[in-house]
Amino acid sequence: MFRFDPYSPAIDADPFPYYKTLRDDYPAFWCEEAGMWVLSRHADIVTALNDWQTYSSAKGNLVDELPNRAGATLGTTDPPRHDRLRALIQKAMTKRALDHIIEPTRAVSTGHMEAVQGEKTFDFVNDLSSKVTVDLLFYLFAMPTEQQDEVRDNAVLMVQTDPKTRQKGPEHIAAYEWMANYAANLVKERKKNPGDDLLSNFITAEIDGESLDDREVQLTVTTLIMAGIESLSGFLSMMAYNLADHPDARRALAADPSLIPDAIEESLRYNTSAQRFKRCLQKDIELHGQAMKAGDFVMLAYGAGNRDERQFDDPDTYDIARKPRGHLGFGGGVHACLGASLARLACKIFFEEFLQRFPEFERVQEQLPWVPSSNFRSPMQLDLAVN
Ligand code: HEM
Repeated sequence: MFRFDPYSPAIDADPFPYYKTLRDDYPAFWCEEAGMWVLSRHADIVTALNDWQTYSSAKGNLVDELPNRAGATLGTTDPPRHDRLRALIQKAMTKRALDHIIEPTRAVSTGHMEAVQGEKTFDFVNDLSSKVTVDLLFYLFAMPTEQQDEVRDNAVLMVQTDPKTRQKGPEHIAAYEWMANYAANLVKERKKNPGDDLLSNFITAEIDGESLDDREVQLTVTTLIMAGIESLSGFLSMMAYNLADHPDARRALAADPSLIPDAIEESLRYNTSAQRFKRCLQKDIELHGQAMKAGDFVMLAYGAGNRDERQFDDPDTYDIARKPRGHLGFGGGVHACLGASLARLACKIFFEEFLQRFPEFERVQEQLPWVPSSNFRSPMQLDLAVN
């Protein structure tokens, strides 16, 4: 009998054969281990993303949700409340705010790259992607740097799940509570002394004379810290992993950095960090012969939709010239990633600098240690040998 267990090491190591079986033979699959349906075809996922009235996020969007998060922040509310929160952040993320990050991103990236230059091998995750994204987020939010390591360690833990119990463990919940408390203090302090940073812009943003209440601000800042550090760092690592395994693509990018933005889109399609998110059905539906009930949870397997041959030609080929329109690397619909422009920009700058310094590298480990997570797929360590 076919099983799809998102907590298993086999799925961490290579989810793609499982995704193909799901798409071809079980397009609406009841996953016993997660206790929810799985949708894997691109068209079904897009339909779900465009119909928040049926596929609600208000019961949480993490496959294993953190306590008291559902219904309270950006990824976990439906319109109209969601739209209000989103508009306020969008107001803070102006073009000017993004232009502001170009030089700092270059500076933090090159700083950490120079620290490993001359080494024969280094760990891309712990020496580079994680350090760069933490520095960048601290810069964006003008956060005091003393607690940088604690913030990073807790952000990493929050997104994890205990594969044995198939739930968040006490350490993951404690990390989330630590972060919520940290965010509360940060917001309190920033309200007293606002500056010209993204966090201050967000706290003070108003729409029609209305601003956010303290709890909304606190939970949204917690979400932004989690996404700003973990989603971005996980994706940088996955892009390095893709480029390690596709030397021709890597050499083409090193020779012509103007190709990097297209390669980022293809990495978001081909093999990315944000693999699976959750919704909750608001009414009974029938899909592919399955009766799905109001109140059932549904996993949207973005990573599977991104390899759907019904949408993309030759989907298992990593082709940096593809321009994969409609990929699901940033989700879609009302919950499409709010940090997408920022992430694309940061990633482009990072790899411009990285490939200039390290045009030749290969993976040292055959098997990678994967972050234990039912949502995300990224390595905890990625040792690269450089020439
Ligand atoms: C390349 C890096 C990133 C990837 C791959 C990524 C991916 C995603 C995905 C797939 C979603 C949709 C979740 C769902 O369907 O429920 C999402 C939502 C979101 N992302 Fe990102 N993300 C990245 C970077 C960032 C950054 C840097 C930030 C902020 C600083 C951010 C903030 C958010 C927020 C706030 C949402 C929720 C939006 C909403 O519900 O309206 N992300 N992200």
